Amino acid sequence: MRLVMLGPPGAGKGTQAGFLSERLGVPQISTGDIFREAVRQGGELGMKAREYLDRGELVPDQVVLEIVARRCLEPDCSQGFILDGFPRTLPQAEAFDAWLEERNLILDSVIEIDVPDEEIVRRLINRRSCPKCCTVYNLISNPPMKSGVCDVCGSNLVQRDDDTERMIRQRLRVYQKETQPLVEYYRKGGKLRVVQGNAPLQVVKENLLKVSLGELV
Ligand code: AP5
Repeated sequence: MRLVMLGPPGAGKGTQAGFLSERLGVPQISTGDIFREAVRQGGELGMKAREYLDRGELVPDQVVLEIVARRCLEPDCSQGFILDGFPRTLPQAEAFDAWLEERNLILDSVIEIDVPDEEIVRRLINRRSCPKCCTVYNLISNPPMKSGVCDVCGSNLVQRDDDTERMIRQRLRVYQKETQPLVEYYRKGGKLRVVQGNAPLQVVKENLLKVSLGELV
């Protein structure tokens, strides 16, 4: 099972990819998490990525492509993967298709989670995440049991630096310009499935599972 999760920042790609990964038994590959971890470690990749993350812009295609290609060849990806946050530009999508073709691999579906902008701003301002185990919460729709503390590992929750209203609106502009064209690209290729993301978590989760298993088109 090889899936791509497509959708604007805050659509729920990470949250839903996590559920699907557990259910389908294939790893979730989040390029955003990979870059944030690299920034935390402070090496060469982290320093390069930080310039872009801090401005709400995209990391250059070549950097992203190398990382994804390497990650998708790791042993835990032998039965597939769920890509969360990649591809994000037409050159990334085209290069990834070529990479798959060279290896006789097929992308099963690209699932777009559709959510209106104002709901996205509301969700992201209220998002908190665990810096240690990466569990994601929302102060309104999915709060932790104890305020500010991760239910899973007990670490203190943090707010992402790019989750300010100004940065969220910048990321939405970048999404419209760079990533929205992928919807048409994958529609033409017959891979696109759309799930309405402006619904309770559980409803989106059930619909996504059905779509990924081909039960809903
Ligand atoms: P990345 O981490 O991928 O950020 P993003 O695309 O902006 O997506 P988010 O992680 O913000 O949102 P999400 O859709 O995963 O939502 P979530 O599930 O958390 O990328 C960060 C940066 O890295 C980029 O800006 C760029 O610089 C760089 N980068 C990454 N990939 C790149 C690439 N391919 N090319 C170039 N650069 C790249 O949910 C959001 C909130 O809503 C949570 O609080 C959640 O609990 C809540 N929520 C989820 N679903 C629901 C629901 N149904 N109802 C109510 N609340 C909900």
